[in-house]
Amino acid sequence: MAMTGVLRPGHAQIRVLDIEESVKWYTDVMGLKYQGRDSQGRAYFKTRAERDHNSIILRQSDRAGMDFFGYKVLDKATLASLEKQLNEYGVKTERIPAGELLETGERVRFELPSGHVMELYAEKTKVGNGIPLINPAPWSKARDNGIAPVRLDHALLYGPNVAEVQKIFTEVLGFYLVERVLTPDGNANAAIWLSCGQKVHDIAFAEYPEPGKLHHCSFLMESWDQVLRAGDIMSMNQVPVDIGPTRHGVTRGCTIYAWDPSGNRFETFMGGHLPYPDYETMTWTFDTFGQGLDYPQRKLHETFLTVVS
Ligand SMILES: [Fe+2]
Repeated sequence: MAMTGVLRPGHAQIRVLDIEESVKWYTDVMGLKYQGRDSQGRAYFKTRAERDHNSIILRQSDRAGMDFFGYKVLDKATLASLEKQLNEYGVKTERIPAGELLETGERVRFELPSGHVMELYAEKTKVGNGIPLINPAPWSKARDNGIAPVRLDHALLYGPNVAEVQKIFTEVLGFYLVERVLTPDGNANAAIWLSCGQKVHDIAFAEYPEPGKLHHCSFLMESWDQVLRAGDIMSMNQVPVDIGPTRHGVTRGCTIYAWDPSGNRFETFMGGHLPYPDYETMTWTFDTFGQGLDYPQRKLHETFLTVVS
C-alpha cells in the first residue's frame, strides 16, 4: 500500500486540571518523554519511540477534555489539497501559523459536525527517539520507565451527527470504515471505526448528544505482556482503572481503559486485525455490543457509554 494523503494521528491537546501534577504523572506513570513548555504554559510530550518532537500537549484548564486532535499528512502540497477539498465539501478551515505549537508547521484546523476540532499538518521537527537509524537496536532502556507506550495510536470521540462525520472522513480525508456498531433499531451507526492506512483504526466516533466529548486517547503497547505490565503500573500508582485488561470484539485489540489525574480516559492497547481499504466493513448489531466492547465478559460496561470528558 502506498501511503499518501493523511498518514497518521500526530498530536492531541488534552486539558488537565493541575498542570504540574499532570507533567509529573505523564512523565513518571505514563512514561512519556517531557519535551518542554511554551509561552502559553502548555507542556509537550512524546512517547519514547516516536520520532517527531511532540504528540501529547497538556493545557491547564478548569475542565478536562480534548482541545483538538491532529493528523500528519504527507507534505505541504497534500495539506493544501486537503484544505481545498474540505472547503469545496463545505467544511470551513482556518490556518494556524507555524510555531504556534512548538516545533510544528502550519496547521489546517476545522470543526466536525460532532463538535470536535481536528487539525492537519505536514511538518513537525524530527528529533529521533534515541535509537540510531544506522544499525538500530530494537528498543532502548528508556522503555522501562513507566507505562512507556510505543505511540499515540487513535482516539474515540463522542458527539452528535456521526453519519456526517463519517462522510467527511471517507469522502474527503481518504479514510475507510473498518467496523461499526448499529443503533438498536439497526437503521444507523451508533459507533464507527475509521482507518487511513492499515491500522485497525486511526479514529473512532460514537453518537452522543453532547458535542466535542473525549472518550479516550489510546496508546499502543508492543505486546500483551506490556499491556499487563501497564496494569501493574496503574495499580502501583493508584490509577483509577475503568475496564480490563481484556480483549475488544470490535478491532480485536487487547486493552485497559483508565483515567489520568484530571479524569481524561486513556487506553493502553495492542493488537487488532489488519484491514485493507478494499475489505468490507464488519458490522456489530447493538445486542452484541457487550461482546464488541469486552469479548470475554460480554458486558456493556455502563461507564463506557456514559463517562466522557
Ligand atoms: Fe481505543
